[in-house]
This record gives sequence, C-alpha cells and structure tokens, in this order.
Amino acid sequence: MYEHDVIVVGAGGAGLRAAIAAHEEGADVALVTKLHPVRSHTGAAEGGINAALHEEDSWDLHAYDTMKGADYLSDAPAVDTFAQEAPDEVIQLEHWGMPFSREEDGKVSQRPFGGLSFPRTTYAGAETGHHLLHTMYEQVVKRGIEVYDEWYVTNLAVTDHDDPEDRECHGCVAHDIKSGEIAGFHANNGVILATGGLGQVFDHTTNAVANTGDGQAMAYRAGVPIEDMEFVQFHPTTLPSTGVLISEGVRGEGGILYNDEEERLMFEYGYANNDGELASRDVVSRAELTEVNEGRGIEDEYVHLDMRHLGEERILDRLENILHLAEDFEGVDGLDEPMPVKPGQHYEMGGIETDENGETCINGLYAAGECACVSMHGANRLGGNALPELLVFGARAGRDAAGKDLGDAQIPTGPSAESEDGDVDTPVSPGALDSTDGDAVADGGAMADPETVIEDAVAREQERIETLLERDGVNHAEVRDDIQETMTANVNVFREEDNLKQALEDIRKAREQYKHVGVSDPSRTFNTDLIHTIETRNIIDLAEAITLGALAREEFRGAHWRKKHQERKDDEWLKHTMLQWNDGDVNLYYKPVMLEGFDQTYEPKERSY
Ligand code: FUM
Repeated sequence: MYEHDVIVVGAGGAGLRAAIAAHEEGADVALVTKLHPVRSHTGAAEGGINAALHEEDSWDLHAYDTMKGADYLSDAPAVDTFAQEAPDEVIQLEHWGMPFSREEDGKVSQRPFGGLSFPRTTYAGAETGHHLLHTMYEQVVKRGIEVYDEWYVTNLAVTDHDDPEDRECHGCVAHDIKSGEIAGFHANNGVILATGGLGQVFDHTTNAVANTGDGQAMAYRAGVPIEDMEFVQFHPTTLPSTGVLISEGVRGEGGILYNDEEERLMFEYGYANNDGELASRDVVSRAELTEVNEGRGIEDEYVHLDMRHLGEERILDRLENILHLAEDFEGVDGLDEPMPVKPGQHYEMGGIETDENGETCINGLYAAGECACVSMHGANRLGGNALPELLVFGARAGRDAAGKDLGDAQIPTGPSAESEDGDVDTPVSPGALDSTDGDAVADGGAMADPETVIEDAVAREQERIETLLERDGVNHAEVRDDIQETMTANVNVFREEDNLKQALEDIRKAREQYKHVGVSDPSRTFNTDLIHTIETRNIIDLAEAITLGALAREEFRGAHWRKKHQERKDDEWLKHTMLQWNDGDVNLYYKPVMLEGFDQTYEPKERSY
C-alpha cells in the first residue's frame, strides 16, 4: 500500500494546481494519473484564461458576465470567489514562466471571447492549455512531488455508513497500466478527484479518448451527489470529421460564420443582433444547427468559419495552431478558404457536488476542475472560464486538503441540502443491474480502520478485474458505441421528450449488455482493452445521469433546450438537479440556487446577446 497525506487523482490543470497548492502547505502529495501529466486533456485547451487584469475591468463585471452566461443557474459564492481569485492565478502563472502572448509594450495580451463584456481572455497563441500544463508540470518536478503516471484509479476506498454525509474516504485503488499491479493508496488527509471531462459519452466531441468521466462516476457510486448533469456544452466550432476543436479565439479575433448562402448567419437571422459570433456558445450552436435544419447548412451538416480577412500576419501570430488543425484534419488551408465547423460536445457544466473549498459531502473526498460542480458555470459555461476555474478551485482544494483553514464554506453539500424531492416519469428504471460491480462502499467497512477499508476495496477491484479478464463475453466497444450513438442522436443540442426516453431505454439495454462484457486480451501489461472496459461502466452511469436530469427539467435554460418547454421558468426551475446513487438506486432531488453574492444579489434577467 502506498501512503501520502494528499492523493490527487488526475494530473491535468486542476490536478497539477491542487498538488502544488497542497505541497506549498507542507503536505506530502502524490499525483496518481491515467496519463503522463503533459498528455492530459488540458493540453488541448486552445483559446485562453479569463481574468479581470485590466484597470478598466473589474472582478464583479467578470462575475456578472459569468452569471448571465450561466443563465443564472450558478451559485454566487462560487462565482464571486472565482472572479476575485482568477487574476492572482494568472499572475502566478506568469511568474512561473507561462509564455503568454504579449503586446508591443510587454503586457500580457487579452482578447474578446463569447459572452464577455470586456476583452479579458489571456492566451498563449491558440495553445494556451499546452503551455499551462507544461508550466505547471515544471513546478511539480521542481518541488519533487511524486507522480504515479499511467496508474489508473478505478475506485475509491470509502466507509459504509448508511448516510453518505457520515462516510469517510481513506484513499483509492489504482491499476498500474504498465505492470498490471492493483494497489491501494492511503491518503492521510484527503483524496482530490481531478479527472476532467466525460466527452466519450458522445461520439462527436472535442474531448480525448481518455475523457470517460472516471472521477464523476466513482464519486457518484460512493454516494456523493452529482449536480446539474443535463447541462452539457456543445462548442459551436468543431471540425465535422473528427470533432477537433477550432478555438473560439478565431471568432474572438474577428472570424465570421457563414451559411451555405454566404450570409452572415448570426445577424442575418437575428440569433444575436448585438454580439453576433461572440454570443455565448449555447446561442451560437443552436444558430448553426437551425441553419442546417432549415436547409441552409453546407452539405446538410455544417457552416463555414472564415478568418481569411484577418490576414496572414495576424493569423500566424495569434492562431497558427488553427491553420495546422484545419489542414491536418480537414485538408483545408485557413489562409485561403473558410473552415467547415459544426457543434460538438465540449464540456460538462455539471459534476461532483462540492463547496467552494473543493469538499464533497464525504469527509476526506474533494473534487476540482471539470469533474467537479462547485456550481459556477450553471447552465452554460463561458469560453475561457474553464482554465481559471481549474486554477482557482484546484488551488483551494489542495490547500484545504493539506489542512489550511479557508474558512467555512457557504455552499451546502450532501443530501441534507435537499429542498425538494424530484419526480420524473421514466420508461425504464434507472440505476444498477448488478449493484456490486464497481461500487466504492465496502460492506462492513464503517467501523474498520483506514487500512482495512482500503484493503477491502483493493480485494473487490482485484475480483472485478479478474472476472472481466476471465469472462468470454461482449466487447466493451459494442456497448460504448451504442451509448455514444444514442446520446448524440437523442441528448444533443435540441432535446425532445420522446428522444430522451428512447435514450434511457437504450442505456438500460447497454447496462444489460455490460453484465456480459469480457476482456479478450489476457495480458497484464498495457491492456487497453481492460482499461476501456472499466471506463465503459463509467460512461453508462453518466449517460444515464445526463439523460435523467434532461428529462426531468421541463424548461429551456442555457444549453438545455426542450421542444415543448420553450421558456426559462425561474419560479419553478431556478434550482440545481441532484442525483445520488444509493446502493444502485438513483435518488433525484433539487437544491436551491444561491444568488446572494459578496456585494450584490444577482437578479435573473432576460438573456440576450
Ligand atoms: O474555443 C476555445 O478555445 C475553448 C475554450 C474554452 O473552452 O474555454
């Protein structure tokens, strides 16, 4: 068994930032990660990091833009904390040597991004995430923080008290991809989940194949509520053939969207008469798909993003990476031709419920970054807000887990925060078919000492993996394909009741199939068949959570559009959707949105761009 004070699971932006912060507080920290840190998906972030750095800008303007972008489904204490602390995080990065793009006078450049009332997006060309990862990984190496890379954390080690709020997380179980060893990791202070997104729930996504929602699924099965999962962001500009991201930075620099009739669609059809291409992402994605659905799409599939008028010098200076992506993945020269783009899954606004210190309702379990939901992105995240969020809340989680007193959190967590029971009419019952497979909570572990809880979790993971390796069954890829197909067809930008119900039925069938899944590759080293099989269980649970939340929420808010419910209904729906796994059963409930911030109470207004 390995032992550290703080175990950080995942080494993308949130994980690295959390590890550095915990180390600075004097903790013995380890990063346990499925990928080498610099291969993490944060490296694919292109556009930038929002922070109110300019003297004419202010943190409260940033907070207001974030709240409006979120369609008022964010918790104000999280939004205000975020907007206040983002500038210091950017300055910290700059001091660590992040190669930001700069103006002639040497100041860090900032460009416009969707939904921002001030150009506050700092960037490093169109490879901001890549440079951010490398800058922070250097700090991890410099500090001698231990990194267990290519160790896939497959489960948490949690006591079995009936009430999740009484449970304690003592560590986790990980599978060494290189050797096949399955080992326990004991965390004396806390485990921080920083495992990123879940894009592989869909088949057209900007996310890497590794983004399978492992952290969300593990926390969910351990009893932590997952919040607002129906709010999935579809980025308006992805390449049609692969889902590769074409940064919003192109539109920030002045790129224009055209339909098949060469009309500037955002203005021509009144989708966003003020901000045009720089409306928030939910608005632009719906506009593009409406063009396609009304017969003005190109090849009935996509629209054009044109940046030729920006000129070669500016494109090479600020967007060079975009030229390579368009050329390599679509065979298009962005200097000479417009680029084909369509909406693709990009980000999950919901996730593991945490407070503003990164804590979940289970003692010793934290989450930060995309896998978490501190609730600052609400119903729609603004472009450029993901990287500062992972810095601010990654650092806070790291400090808190290391023992620093950050003060009492205002955001309540756990089932005791319930304000209302949920009710949804589903065609099939949701939840586990075989509830023991992959569950985190040990039988008889409540009173046991930490090492016994971890050893028990290791034994159950060994048994699960042996069963998968021995069984001659269905291949995970068939199950995964079925989920991705139904989610893309039925739980996309435009949602209808019948489609959501169809998705739930398909997910139930996938669960049934998964009971018979087997791994055909018998090897113990670099067995990607095995890894993908374990991941697929996570994909099933999260696809179901997204769809259940979407079916229950009968309104149109941010990224969640419902055909029969075409308005935002604040009286009824200004509340967070919570799902809690209870020994295989799914409990749906709601908790109120917190609109009272540090200096102001946010009043929901009509949202237009
Ligand atoms: O478009 C982009 O560059 C993506 C940025 C983001 O998701 O924040």
